[in-house]
This record gives sequence, C-alpha cells and structure tokens, in this order.
Amino acid sequence: MDVKIAPSLLAADWLRLGEEIESVEKAGADLLHCDVMDGHLVPNLSMGPHVVEAIARATRVPLDVHLMLDNPGPYVATFARAGAATIGFHVEVAREPRALIERIHACGARASLTLNPGTPARAAEDYLDAVDQVLVMTVHPGFGGQEFIAEALDKVRRLRRLAPSTLDIEVDGGINPRTAREAVAAGANVLVAGTAIFGCRDRQQAIQALRG
Ligand code: DX5
Ligand code: ZN
Repeated sequence: MDVKIAPSLLAADWLRLGEEIESVEKAGADLLHCDVMDGHLVPNLSMGPHVVEAIARATRVPLDVHLMLDNPGPYVATFARAGAATIGFHVEVAREPRALIERIHACGARASLTLNPGTPARAAEDYLDAVDQVLVMTVHPGFGGQEFIAEALDKVRRLRRLAPSTLDIEVDGGINPRTAREAVAAGANVLVAGTAIFGCRDRQQAIQALRG
C-alpha cells in the first residue's frame, strides 16, 4: 500500500493558514488533517466547521477531519457540508458506532473510527467491514508535539491482520521519520504529522523524510 501523508494543521501558523496549506500542498501532502476539539473529550479547543469550510475552499487536497467531540453525531452533516472528505469519531464515546458510520456515509464522506491509546483493538473489530479507515492514536489526543506511544503499534499490527486489504490504517501523534518507519512496518499506511512537518522550513524534505 502507498504511504499517504496527512499534515496536521494544528501545528501550522494559523495567522498564515493559506500559505501554510499551499506549502504542504506543493510539497505533496495527500490529505490535510483537521483536528476538531470540544474541551470535553479532550482538554483543549481548536477549530470548528467555519474554519474547516475556509480550509476546504483554499485547497484541492482532501480533508481528513478528526472529531474529538463527546457527542459527534449532531455535527456529522455540518462537517460534511463544510467539505470533509473523511470524518472520524472516537469509538470511546459512540453509543452506536455502526449507526454513526452509516450517517457519515449518507452525508457522502468516508468514515474513520478512532481509538485512544488505552482502547483495545477489539473495540474496532466489529466495524472493520463498515469503515473506510481506522485511526490509531499514538498519543493521548488533545495536543501536538507529544511523545509517540510505541505500544500502540501492537494494535496497528493486529488491525492490519484482521482488516480488509483496502482499509486505511492511520496513526496520529508523535510521528517523525523514525516512528513513521515503525508505524509503516506495523501496517499503517496513513501518517498524520504536525510538528514534524510544520516545524520544518522545508516542507518537501519533511514530507519525503516521512515517506521514507
Ligand atoms: C492530537 C492531534 C494530532 C496532533 C499531532 O490530539 O490529534 O493530530 O496535531 O501532532 P504531532 O504530529 O505534533 O504529534
Ligand atoms: Zn488528529
């Protein structure tokens, strides 16, 4: 499977968001990762649908929207309308994951099921036939620039073994050229990276280093 790189805009300079997006688009970003936080599921706040909509207008790169919301259901249609190509929600807070996956598909988006570091692979196993992507968090969500949690790779390996061959397995948090290599070896094919890309002046070099 080809490795896809998804720069996380959380680490971009938001005062110059248009230029930041252009720089990673030119450098070959496959997706743009948008972190949406509600201050409940995670102890931080970030962007909302209004910002996602502005980002969608500024780029042709598909938006990978990571909803860190306690109650994602009511927002699915809003983010689909805002231009999300993929909408991800946390399995820990979903009462009926399958219904939520169907709701995302009905809005015309791809569905991504997200697992926190402490959540076992089995929480996703019943839905591997229905989702387009599983996002395995490799940090505790809420903030950029944290240390990669290597134990999460066991989960990636297990899910890759069980998943249909077309399923995207994404990792998010603490991804740098070294951890990217480990994640890909474990079976991940979509790499989210904030600090490792926006912290580098040369975006092309940063993205190439992650592709390995
Ligand atoms: C954390 C977010 C990540 C974050 C990654 O809650 O989900 O997408 O931006 O940042 P880095 O790559 O700096 O760990
Ligand atoms: Zn994220």
